[in-house]
Amino acid sequence: MEVPLLDLTRQYASIEPGVKEAIEEVLTSQRFIMGPKVKELEEEIADYCGVKHAVACASGSDAILLALWALGVGPGDEVITTPFTFFATGGSISRLGATPVFVDILGDTYNINPDLIESCISENTKAIMPVHLFGQCADMDWINEIAARHALPVVEDAAQAIGAGYNSRRAGSLGTAGAFSFFPTKNLGAYGDGGIVTTDDDELYDRVSILRLHGSRPKYYHKHIGMNSRLDALQAAVLLVKLPHLDRWNEGRRANAARYGELFEGSPVVTPVEAPGRRHIYNQYTIRVGERDALREFLKERGIGGEIYYPVPLHLQECYAALGYEEGSMPVAEQAAREVLSLPVFPELTAEEMEYAAETIKGFVS
Ligand SMILES: Cc1ncc(COP(=O)(O)O)c(C=O)c1O
Repeated sequence: MEVPLLDLTRQYASIEPGVKEAIEEVLTSQRFIMGPKVKELEEEIADYCGVKHAVACASGSDAILLALWALGVGPGDEVITTPFTFFATGGSISRLGATPVFVDILGDTYNINPDLIESCISENTKAIMPVHLFGQCADMDWINEIAARHALPVVEDAAQAIGAGYNSRRAGSLGTAGAFSFFPTKNLGAYGDGGIVTTDDDELYDRVSILRLHGSRPKYYHKHIGMNSRLDALQAAVLLVKLPHLDRWNEGRRANAARYGELFEGSPVVTPVEAPGRRHIYNQYTIRVGERDALREFLKERGIGGEIYYPVPLHLQECYAALGYEEGSMPVAEQAAREVLSLPVFPELTAEEMEYAAETIKGFVS
């Protein structure tokens, strides 16, 4: 039996006619850049996340960049974030000429440890950017409390967390701004790159909207130097077809995570923890095991997909050597990087596939 880490062909089979119709509509209109589909998507995502505004852009990386940029982050500034994340979190800070300041994570949720944030705030700190890693929100009440004490904005890197819950609210509505990715492997994935910024702040919305279109308003009049980061109408059309299914797909992932929990019970496999008040949407289902690399090889030989998110925390990346972090400086993130393995959890996974994956893993670890 083969158990892929992710098989998007199964999702496509369930929505194919709607997607084709939506694409056909864009082709007939011959309006490929911005336009009504993009506007509609922005409104629907804002509504879904429970915020006033959303600005679609070319990728999740750009969504982070635009949010920070619109908040005035630039050369000489510092942004506090986690080292246990995809590179874009740190990279977007650096691309603005600012410096990421890394804070170690919590060992159970893999999210930034709020307890360690305050001692890293300096006069150069311009923002705090937690990441809702693997689809579970960071401890936003605590982070917002610290941010409020220091009058700092909070940008949620919610790239992996569309639909994730925090008490009665959703990711993207918990900070000053939220940044989402529509990379195809995300729970709401486009058929190419895409991203979106969410916010309740009218002024921030205005600035992000202008920066994404080369800083112009009206067209050809440039008060600012911005960038080109538009979302294609074709991507917006696909995402509009998929959005009504998102909650059901997220529920499917949650059900699979619960099933794995039962299957791994009593074994040495450390399963993910859902913190109180959170609704984890399992963009990744990530276990911890001692002999992780050997297990990954073992699974590969038996046709079971597994991926390491992430093998090297950002503070130890070669490109950040000049920041001066040493091995051992973020022990929790470093240990996680040695032990984590993400397993197939996509909603269309069958019970047999999950049982085969879990039994194979238990056979290895016990
Ligand atoms: C945590 C995190 N931040 C940012 C990004 C960047 O998103 P994109 O790949 O759409 O640029 C991703 C997605 O890969 C991510 O997982």
